[in-house]
Amino acid sequence: MAIHVSENGMIFNIQTPNTAYMMGVADKKYLGHLYYGKKIESMNAKYLMRWNYDPHEKQKNKIDCIDRFYFEYATFGVGDFRDSCLRVRSEQGYRVCELVYDGYEIIDGKPAPSGLPGTFAGEGSGQKAQTLVVTLKDEVLGLKVLLRYSVFEDSDAIIRSVVAVNEGKENLYLEKILSACLDMDQEGFELVTLHGAWGRERHIASRKVTEGKYVVSSLRGETSHQAQPFLALATHGTDQKHGDVYAMNFVYSGNFIAETEMDYNESIRMSMGIHPDGFEWVLEPGAAFETPEVVMVYAAQGLGQMTRIFHDLYRNHLIRSRYLHRERPILVNNWEATYFDFDSDKLVAIVKEAKALGIEMLVMDDGWFGNRNNDECALGDWSVNEEKIRGGLAALVDRVNAEELKFGIWFEPEMISPDSKLYREHPDWAVQMPGRDIGMSRQQYVLDLTRQEVVDYIYERVAGVIRSANIEYVKWDMNRPVADAGSMTLGREHMGEFMHRYMLGVYQMQERLLRDFPDLLLENCSGGGGRFDPGMLYYSPQIWTSDDMDPIERLAIQEGTAMLYPLSTMGAHVCVCPNHSVGRVTPLETRANVALAGTFGYELDITKMTAEEKEKVISFNRQYHQYHALMREGNYYRIASYRENQMYDCWQVVAPDRSETLVTYVQVRFETRRKSARLRLEGLDAQAQYALAGTDEVYAGELLMQAGYLQELIFGDYGSRLLHFVRR
Ligand code: GLA
Repeated sequence: MAIHVSENGMIFNIQTPNTAYMMGVADKKYLGHLYYGKKIESMNAKYLMRWNYDPHEKQKNKIDCIDRFYFEYATFGVGDFRDSCLRVRSEQGYRVCELVYDGYEIIDGKPAPSGLPGTFAGEGSGQKAQTLVVTLKDEVLGLKVLLRYSVFEDSDAIIRSVVAVNEGKENLYLEKILSACLDMDQEGFELVTLHGAWGRERHIASRKVTEGKYVVSSLRGETSHQAQPFLALATHGTDQKHGDVYAMNFVYSGNFIAETEMDYNESIRMSMGIHPDGFEWVLEPGAAFETPEVVMVYAAQGLGQMTRIFHDLYRNHLIRSRYLHRERPILVNNWEATYFDFDSDKLVAIVKEAKALGIEMLVMDDGWFGNRNNDECALGDWSVNEEKIRGGLAALVDRVNAEELKFGIWFEPEMISPDSKLYREHPDWAVQMPGRDIGMSRQQYVLDLTRQEVVDYIYERVAGVIRSANIEYVKWDMNRPVADAGSMTLGREHMGEFMHRYMLGVYQMQERLLRDFPDLLLENCSGGGGRFDPGMLYYSPQIWTSDDMDPIERLAIQEGTAMLYPLSTMGAHVCVCPNHSVGRVTPLETRANVALAGTFGYELDITKMTAEEKEKVISFNRQYHQYHALMREGNYYRIASYRENQMYDCWQVVAPDRSETLVTYVQVRFETRRKSARLRLEGLDAQAQYALAGTDEVYAGELLMQAGYLQELIFGDYGSRLLHFVRR
């Protein structure tokens, strides 16, 4: 049993293999947080309850007590003046909610969220799950709130979500309903977050936590390039191997808020959920609202351990694709090779060359449909342009398959161009506020996916194309944020539901896609990596990490992304040189070595490569097959960061049985008077000997970990090495 309850039912201890999370009921009334950290068996933790009521003076100082209490789920309006998780408006306009403990239930397994992505127990041994559901009630409002905490037998993560049920007779209006909250003592924390922009997504940032609030959020209708639904509080001095880390990551792809608040008592509240700005959900009598899940992780051994807990959880309990544990085909994508200027002959020429080089799939990117010869038109017109794809799609795919390559295709299903047949027929299908010009981004509008007829129409058009030929891969893109949020059909009462209902529409379409095409390899994308989040990973085992493929720019992008997400999820391609985003000139080997840490493919015109370059491509592809299982299933360690040392980057992947490890070293700059970089490896068998492939050198595991491997510096800029150590 992972979840323990004290005899009087007032103390809960949720255990994972190495951690414990404790809460209790104060005064038989309020559910308070007691402890989160290393595993503890004792239930005798009531003394940790910060409940300062004097039993004789009870009502005199209620608000002072409430304002200092460590709530499991804080509500707005009754005297907790920190930022709350739940703000409810009654039919009469009151915003006062007080949740009182009502009972609990422990259930085997984990409830599947409805219409939302979520973690699951899976099948087979070692996949057991247990869930604690604590019921809280506000009798005055007629509101029941279920707090759910799920754990898996093989993971140190705790999955949290909330369900609100209207048990009253009048409507309730949910103005804010977050998924999780964690009140703790402030212990000199640093806050670690991920930030960026188009082309430089998910750079790691950290700062000391001081008084006041720090908010990471997105109001863009997607998780965004700019922010990531992730927060980690780390004790001072935390690094990859040391320090206590408390982290949250949101299984959602739309508007979110993630916040820390240090109050005047120096306690700290960490919370996460759907962004309340513009949000309002009408909860009719008898109706329920379910929040997306938050994954909560405590790691006693630094950020590296936190990373591996997230990776294992996502591989074992979130990504459900058949491709998760399979080798992904090496692809060539024609976007940066041709942009919109292609036809079937040009694609087939690429395919013939690809076959000779050992590439396994062609992905036909943007520009194959309607009259889409630039990015100003045709989104929504999902029928093949036979002037470019002569004889139709099936004929092209047959030609590609005849060369023994698979075929993949690009869509942007959520969008509509003002210059499109679809828009001329259904102008009301665009997201808009009547009477106001719709704001454009990349010359396009967003489709109103809160309307079922729009979802059905677009889904059927996309599915029709997939059915029409042997299509084995889809890249699902989304190239602008959502603004002018409004739907012609939702009406005044429900307009605040727009942004969440939009996400439910996206999720519904992807769910149908996977149900109807279970063998399809789906890659999500959003103008590069604007929607790289656990919500999307539920549907697609890989996500396009960034439009910037320059290997040096990719170091920080992939470091930040891999802090949370397994390497097998990161779309990574070898780009052309000079790079199209930053103009940098880098060696082909370094471009390939950096892309090897992801799904691997090419995004350049391979027909224009020299014979020498083609020879290299053949060897990179062999290398990919040699290492892919290791990259996909192995344990990831961040050894050094160019961001920190301003000289080189280094990461390592170790086989689960420690029989081999691949170390990637990328040296951004050369420095005079320095001979070598000391790479202290991790995760090896200390007692074993490891041979360095391609040499006659043999090293003791303990030496590689304690003293490190001495990597001689590479003269010049942007050199890189792969070091493959194999246990003897
Ligand atoms: C986005 C994607 C690119 C490419 C273009 C096509 O920017 O991230 O990879 O597919 O759209 O328009």
